[in-house]
Order: sequence, then C-alpha cells, then structure tokens
Amino acid sequence: MVPAAGRGERLGPGAPKALRELGGVPILVHAVRVLARSRAVETVVVVAPKDGVAEVRALLADAIGERESAVLVVVPGGDTRQESVRAGLAALPPGVDVVLVHDAARPLVPVDVVDAVARAVADGAEAVVPAVPLADTVKQVTPAPTAGLPEPVVATPDRSTLRAVQTPQGFRRDVLDRVHAKAVQEGIDATDDAGLVERFGGRVVVVPGHEEAFKVTRPLDLVLAEAVLARRRS
Ligand code: C5P
Repeated sequence: MVPAAGRGERLGPGAPKALRELGGVPILVHAVRVLARSRAVETVVVVAPKDGVAEVRALLADAIGERESAVLVVVPGGDTRQESVRAGLAALPPGVDVVLVHDAARPLVPVDVVDAVARAVADGAEAVVPAVPLADTVKQVTPAPTAGLPEPVVATPDRSTLRAVQTPQGFRRDVLDRVHAKAVQEGIDATDDAGLVERFGGRVVVVPGHEEAFKVTRPLDLVLAEAVLARRRS
C-alpha cells in the first residue's frame, strides 16, 4: 500500500508531493514501480489525494504495466496519514496476509529492501521496519518556554542504540487492521504504523534499510534524489 494523499507542504508550493517530478517522472510512479518490481508484491493499493484519484489512476496505468501480475487499485485518501492508511486497508483484497506500507515520498528505495521486509514478515515477524544507523548525535530537549529562545537539553540517547526508520514497513494484515481499529477507538493519530503496533503491545523488529530510501520532504531532498537518480542512470 502506498499512502500518497499528503499535500507535501514542506516541499514548498506546487502539486501534491507524490505528483512532483523526479527525473521527469512523478515521485509516486517511482515508488509504485519499485514495489511492482518485487516478486513479493501481488497487489498495489495507492491512496490518492481525494481530488486526484482519476489523475493518479491514469498516471499509474503505465507504471505498473511492466508486471501484469500486479493488480493496481487506487482509492481516495483522508485528511491525515492514518486515515489514508485506513482507506488503503479497507481496499485490500481478501486473501492478502502480508501488507507493506510504503510512503510515496521514498521513491528511491532499492527493491532488495522491499524484498527483505516482505521476507521477514513471511518468516514470522508481525511487524518489520527497515532502518539505518544515525549519522548525527541526537539530543532530547524540552521546548523553550518562549519561541525563539534556546531549548534546554535533557538527555543524549546512546546513538549506537538508535535507528532512523524508513519504509516499506511490513505487517501481518490482521495485526495492522487491529492496531488501526484500536487507534480510532482511542483517538490516537500516529505518523508511523509500526509505532501503533508498539503502543498496543506488539513486537516490531528492524531489518537493514538503505541510504537511498530517504524521504523526500524538503527542497534539498529533491536535489539529492535527482543526483541519486542521475548516478543510477549513468
Ligand atoms: O507528511 P509525511 O511526509 O509524513 O507523509 C508520509 C506519507 O503519507 C506520504 O507518502 C504522504 O503522501 C502520505 N499521506 C497520506 N495522507 C495524508 C497525509 C500524508 O497519504 N493525509
């Protein structure tokens, strides 16, 4: 499943993030192509902006044509990422036991990462996230009492135990259905599906991610993504 209904405001003004182009091709098309290339993927459910379902359907008809066995479904998303994932879950065909949730905003994830996540779920994990070690030291702060003032540091977590999480995140379908239903009941809005599994007592494991699976969020990320793509094509 690819939640792609966000506005992507941190990228600056323009089209919804998933429809911005990278190497002349919309970010979303890159993301869907990688998934469709994985032997582990049978169906791709794309959650599109509410007013962009027809446009996304037309865009993707070509992208997924390379692999006829992968079925493409496009459904309208919600106001939050969590609502969009719920819309995607509701559109999954029966008989699907493993769900990978992949942010459209990570167009350059290598197919090996997709395969590794799917394999870890097939091998018995209920929730799997790809992740990479952190380059930067991380500080925990308390928000400054007044905006613009320095923020007091309260802790420096041991960097060797921290990981930066990417997507696709992989789940047993029943587990993902259950935690999303519970989140609605309890009024929780999370930006991370694996985080919901943890919150409700499930077990999440990490497999190696990849530096090229970074999220395209800010304008500088687009510059980096263009450079990675150019290197791949040279
Ligand atoms: O905003 P953020 O970068 O965390 O979004 C992560 C992913 O969730 C993006 O692929 C975005 O399109 C998607 N999303 C969504 N529906 C929303 C908000 C975000 O599908 N309402």
